[in-house]
Amino acid sequence: MRRLHKILFALSLGIVIPVAAQAGDNALVKEGAKIFKTKNLGNCISCHAANGKKLDGPGSLGPKLSGLSAWPEKALHDKIYDPYTTNPVSAMPAFGKNGWLDEHQIQALVAYLKTIN
Ligand code: HEC
Repeated sequence: MRRLHKILFALSLGIVIPVAAQAGDNALVKEGAKIFKTKNLGNCISCHAANGKKLDGPGSLGPKLSGLSAWPEKALHDKIYDPYTTNPVSAMPAFGKNGWLDEHQIQALVAYLKTIN
């Protein structure tokens, strides 16, 4: 069952991500920005400075996000879904794998992250 789930998930990525990543998808970008900032959603802002917001001090565990518009959508998706695939000692939680954010929410975040230069 788990394996089937993985296969279905992989298939859905191929179809959905190119749609989510289309430039000009403002509603999705807005939704992603909200998830990024909202405490009981992504709360990414608790660790990452982005788009001019500066973070400093003990809460800011993660790097300032920049240059993400150059990342492929899949790399951004995978980072949010499970950061341990690229960094086994990451301090960033696996938002997708832990079931904290669903596929649509992750795609909204990817659309938002693609706006970060
Ligand atoms: C508990 C702190 C924490 C939270 C919350 C967090 N991150 Fe991270 N994040 C990190 C750390 C630490 C790294 C650097 C290590 C790594 O690459 O895994 C990182 C790396 C990243 C990177 C790669 C940046 C680069 O330049 O290599 C992206 C993209 C990212 N995070 C996005 C997000 C998003 C989107 C969210 C919200 C859903 C989020 N993070 C929430 C700690 C966090």
